[in-house]
Amino acid sequence: MTRPVFVPLVDPTANALIPSLALIGPLLIPTSLVDAVRPSLPPTASYIVEASAAKPDTDLVALLNNGAKALVVSQAQLDNLSDVPKERLIVKVAESELANAAQLPAGGLYVSASKVVTPKEIGFKGPVFLQTEVSAANAVETIKAAGDATVVLPTALLTEGASTSSHVGIADAFLAPVISDRPDGLFPTIVASSTHSSRPLGMVYSSRESVAEAIKTQKGVYQSRKHGLWRKGETSGSVQDLVKIDLDCDTDSLVFEVVQHGTGFCHLGTPTCFGQWSGLAKLEDTLQSRFVSAPEGSYTKRLFTDEKLLRAKIMEEAEELCDANTKEEVAFEAADLIYFALTRAVSKGVSLKDIELALDAKSLKVTRRKGDAKPKWEEKVKPAAAAAPAPAPAAETAEDKPIRMRTTVLKDVPKEERPQLLVRPVLNSLAMIDKVKPIVERVQKEGDAGLKAMTKQFDKADLESNVQLPPFATPSEAELPADVRAAIDQAYSNVKEFHAAQLDAAPLRVETMPGVVCSRFARPIQRVGVYVAGCKEIVLATPPRPDGSISPEVLYVAKLVGVTCILKAGGAQAVSAMAYGTKEVPKVDKIFGPGNQWVTAAKMLVQNDTDALVSIDMPAGPSEVLVIADETANPVFVASDLLSQAEHGVDSQVVLVGINLTAEKLSAIEAEVDKQARALPRVKIAREAIGKSLIVLVDTQDEAMEFSNEYAPEHLILHLKDAPGAVAQVENAGSVFVGAFSPESCGDYASGTNHTLPTNGYARQFSGVNTLSFQKHITSQEVTADGLRKLGPVVVTLAEREGLEAHANAVRVRLAELSK
Ligand SMILES: *[C@@H]1O[C@H](CO)[C@@H](O)[C@H](O)[C@H]1NC(C)=O
Ligand SMILES: *[C@@H]1O[C@H](CO)[C@@H](O)[C@H](O)[C@H]1NC(C)=O
Ligand SMILES: *[C@@H]1O[C@H](CO)[C@@H](O)[C@H](O)[C@H]1NC(C)=O
Ligand SMILES: *[C@@H]1O[C@H](CO)[C@@H](O)[C@H](O)[C@H]1NC(C)=O
Repeated sequence: MTRPVFVPLVDPTANALIPSLALIGPLLIPTSLVDAVRPSLPPTASYIVEASAAKPDTDLVALLNNGAKALVVSQAQLDNLSDVPKERLIVKVAESELANAAQLPAGGLYVSASKVVTPKEIGFKGPVFLQTEVSAANAVETIKAAGDATVVLPTALLTEGASTSSHVGIADAFLAPVISDRPDGLFPTIVASSTHSSRPLGMVYSSRESVAEAIKTQKGVYQSRKHGLWRKGETSGSVQDLVKIDLDCDTDSLVFEVVQHGTGFCHLGTPTCFGQWSGLAKLEDTLQSRFVSAPEGSYTKRLFTDEKLLRAKIMEEAEELCDANTKEEVAFEAADLIYFALTRAVSKGVSLKDIELALDAKSLKVTRRKGDAKPKWEEKVKPAAAAAPAPAPAAETAEDKPIRMRTTVLKDVPKEERPQLLVRPVLNSLAMIDKVKPIVERVQKEGDAGLKAMTKQFDKADLESNVQLPPFATPSEAELPADVRAAIDQAYSNVKEFHAAQLDAAPLRVETMPGVVCSRFARPIQRVGVYVAGCKEIVLATPPRPDGSISPEVLYVAKLVGVTCILKAGGAQAVSAMAYGTKEVPKVDKIFGPGNQWVTAAKMLVQNDTDALVSIDMPAGPSEVLVIADETANPVFVASDLLSQAEHGVDSQVVLVGINLTAEKLSAIEAEVDKQARALPRVKIAREAIGKSLIVLVDTQDEAMEFSNEYAPEHLILHLKDAPGAVAQVENAGSVFVGAFSPESCGDYASGTNHTLPTNGYARQFSGVNTLSFQKHITSQEVTADGLRKLGPVVVTLAEREGLEAHANAVRVRLAELSK
């Protein structure tokens, strides 16, 4: 209920009544008695301090900070407390002052009047406390007449038992406004578990008599419709300590908050009449019972006994929670942290209820601490905060939040923290490799049977064979419309033309000394897992559809490029099949092509295995783009480039480097990002990726290029006044998109360049896939007799110096022959 029926004004003799009174609402305690009464209050009790007569040097704010729910103050005191939230202040007014009382800047009124006045008569919206002349004879009537006002009753007038001519029973006063709408006059009563966040245990009935008994004994006592007064647990031992009684808003039903002992509330032996606990309540029960009875050597036992282990787990989970980003991750990590935090609480005898009481007590403080972290922790999080974008709080995924990037002004970032701006999120590749290993090994051991089983499991396709050999049928017009076919043809011819031009057709030949000719010539890698360049065997792996077929686009391309074998499998199992070969699947020498983290992990694994004798193009990480824009950039284009990367996946890396941008230009770009992102079907992915993305503001093009070269992006897009001129400054990048009309999408699909490019900063030392990737280079030399006469002595000297006599000899015997 929002307002108490009455408040007991505590006097020095009230001690014996306090446990009962604390059940039914706040106590009203004069300032002079606060220190004396507080220690005897149960932790669940609440109280208001009557401070209107406090000595002038009383620290009223401290009373609130220490737990008073509100203060009754004089109007002069009220003027002094303008910083205190007004709902915590109840101002005292005399009957003569009622006319203007409604305007007072206080949360409640404390009215001293000779007769009953109601909030309605005063015109006051908040709680009104009414102190008027009450006696045992008229108390119940006064409470009823006061309507929504809370009547102040001196404790000297109250008794725990039944009302008498000199005293009012606490239950009678409490139940004064309660009316039953039932023929038997009973009150529906919800019983809730105080120790489980007030969740319901069941539903029972109360009578005036049972409520009086419950208040007097501070136990769960109800009215059974069959058996009369029902002292819960009297026979079963599952007794209840009563913590609180409340009324609902229209005063016709009750809530009992209890601590349930014994086996639980329900006669069926479950903790509640609505079944088992769930969530936090369940966790607390489980931990409490484990604390008593966890088996020696079990993990829980260790957690309870090894304080260092528990400490480390709490720290670890706290960090993981801070690093979590998606809603799912945050929920998952928060659950872990709560688990270990509650384990710590339970091991110290602290219940969820104690934690909630601590929260309530904190919420009563009016003097707020600044809320800064302790220096120890501030130091700890500094680099991380600069590195990873501040993890988006769960609320930020809410649809109404703008979709925006984080902005950093480069010159404001201290030198030693700049490297953090270049860091990509840590990829847990070792964990991935552990997951992929059993799949790769199964195909290696079981061959076609293993491959088949896993294709059934992962792709839901039950295949006769995982292999399809040429000739491949040309997909029909219905399967592959002419415009798609024409687009593929155009892309194919562009890629082919560009890559054919890269072919090392003629051998390289250099005469290093007269008669000493060295040469280098290229040969295609014989068998590759995908692609052109004259390779003898091209195995193309693609996951089949559940009906066992493959997509017409892939089939069409397979035919165009002359694939020798289509492997109908995907993921790690396809990589393993190509690496080791099976009866049906030819073993390849090099595996190319992008894939998800399973594919990447499998490629890393097989490349590392000397038994497989296979190489890979590169370990691909999450895709990245770095866009450099100056004041001439078109915000619409810039935003579209950022988003075309962001829609790839939530871990896409998107960086915008702005050169001396005006505030208007920057906000135009930000507005475009938000607007275009919202229009995307994949808005959720884009929102998350953009939320983690970074805008770096610099003053000059040189600074921008320097930053980009250090970042070494997979894709670099230049929106600059002189974009072609800037290419000369590019030192590290996978592929460069020059000028306003060169979106990354062109390279992705059709311009001619290949799109398997180094990520994660590897553009510092690696090239993207190109024709050379499908070749290896063989060197050779041909030395003439004259050549050996000149070169031989050099070799002999070096071989002797190294102590390799046979090497030296191979030259000496020839030189000897020549000098005959
Ligand atoms: C108001 O605060 C001032 C300064 O702390 C104090 O001197 C004065 O007594 C206070 N007035 C009342 C009515 O408490
Ligand atoms: C780039 O090469 C990879 C590996 O051979 C291939 O899967 C991909 O289709 C190629 N992309 C383009 C755009 O040429
Ligand atoms: C590669 O092999 C080495 C040596 O066996 C091993 O230490 C390393 O962990 C392996 N790496 C991967 C990615 O499997
Ligand atoms: C930045 O742009 C302003 C005009 O917006 C120009 O006056 C200023 O010189 C530029 N600063 C640099 C470092 O180029």
